[in-house]
Amino acid sequence: MERLLLRRGLSWRKFADLAGYTPGWLSKIKHGTPPSVDFARRCDELLEARGTLLALVGSNVPRPAELPAAVAGFVGRRGHLDQLDALLAKLHRPGASRIAVIEGAPGVGKTALALRWAHDVSHRFPDGQLFVDLGGFSHDRFPAAPEDVLEELLLALGSPVDVGPLDLTRRAALLRSMLADREVLLVLDNAADSDQVQPLLPGSGCCFVVVTSRRSLPALAVRTHGERLDVGRLTDAEGEELLREALGKARLDADPSAQKGLTELVRRCGHLPLALRIAAEHLITDPLLSVGDLVRHLDEENNRLDVLALDDQVAVRTVFSWSYRRLADEERRVLRLISTLKCTEITTAAVAVLAAVEYEQAQQLLYSLVCAHMLEHLGGDRYRLHELLGLFAAERVEQEDDRAQLAAATARLEQWSALDRLPTHC
Ligand SMILES: Nc1ncnc2c1ncn2[C@@H]1O[C@H](COP(=O)(O)OP(=O)(O)OP(=O)(O)O)[C@@H](O)[C@H]1O
Ligand SMILES: [Mg+2]
Repeated sequence: MERLLLRRGLSWRKFADLAGYTPGWLSKIKHGTPPSVDFARRCDELLEARGTLLALVGSNVPRPAELPAAVAGFVGRRGHLDQLDALLAKLHRPGASRIAVIEGAPGVGKTALALRWAHDVSHRFPDGQLFVDLGGFSHDRFPAAPEDVLEELLLALGSPVDVGPLDLTRRAALLRSMLADREVLLVLDNAADSDQVQPLLPGSGCCFVVVTSRRSLPALAVRTHGERLDVGRLTDAEGEELLREALGKARLDADPSAQKGLTELVRRCGHLPLALRIAAEHLITDPLLSVGDLVRHLDEENNRLDVLALDDQVAVRTVFSWSYRRLADEERRVLRLISTLKCTEITTAAVAVLAAVEYEQAQQLLYSLVCAHMLEHLGGDRYRLHELLGLFAAERVEQEDDRAQLAAATARLEQWSALDRLPTHC
């Protein structure tokens, strides 16, 4: 550009006037800020560079490849992978859904699914793949602020302007501009809520976004015509496959208890991938520990969450606690009360009596717990607490609840069960 200006006897300042840019802006480009495509096009026209400046910009546009490695030994989730493939197949149609929201309980495998699929289809996004951990549920930090995430994304895409002084709205607009002509896959992992995600979304073009979250994000799905994928626990067979993949044939052949013990182990781990991975890691680390031994350790309910831990952070208890902390006080109280019942199912009416709240309030609290994926909705007014979450909540009861209040809650429920026409409260 310097040469072209010289040839035409133009100073940078004169050229700024001619092109309609401020001298300050031009000086930034001169000192290394990557120019935008529009800027390059304008310069190209004015300096009659026959597309050479434009081509230079094109070759400077970074193609981010930010996806972390996919999970080795990934199993199952065929239905969800097909659903994502079907969305991608329709990407170029007008009005097509360009966002998939993967929701599910802590440690159920949302990130693993998102990454597995993202790697499978990365070649379909020639302008790159972006990945951000939004920190919605983490031990060491608050959810990331959208303006910070925008800065990160804009830098990764080679923003032509200094992002620092821009506010949230301008950053979001710039991201939309930068993505408008590109085919980029954006994985927004571990979202706290819809509001955190909304400013990060492309406006048009052929980008695709995968969001994962422990919370249901219906507002996001409605606002964006996004498709929601609810990820549940693995089946017996998938859980066994996960263990086989992780442990390898030789380890299993050497363990006579493995043949029958694997299904038992899957069940003790509540079919939860995180728990299964931790169990597998124990077996790998200690070659003398048999599958049967581990099942026996897990049989002691008081012990189970202690066993399902590798260290302070990689532990089922810790991972659950990040979600628990995010619940409202009343939601936490209801979760703890439900765990005292030790029954597999519970109805709204029973929860209302147990917690001494109106039926409608119980309904609302149960709905919130389902949205946080701390409780499963079985249909109608029936709910189930997953057994590992039940053990976690029972531990919280020990720490947080007053014995007299607990006894009063149980007495209320027993009296109601005896009076009520329903045969049981559970
Ligand atoms: N389908 C799968 N096949 C094999 N391993 C899996 C699968 N899904 C999850 N895992 C393993 O289980 C563990 C938990 O998975 P992951 O981190 O994806 O869960 P998550 O739902 O994203 O958890 P969080 O709610 O904490 O974000 C990881 O070690 C992951 O590798
Ligand atoms: Mg995750």
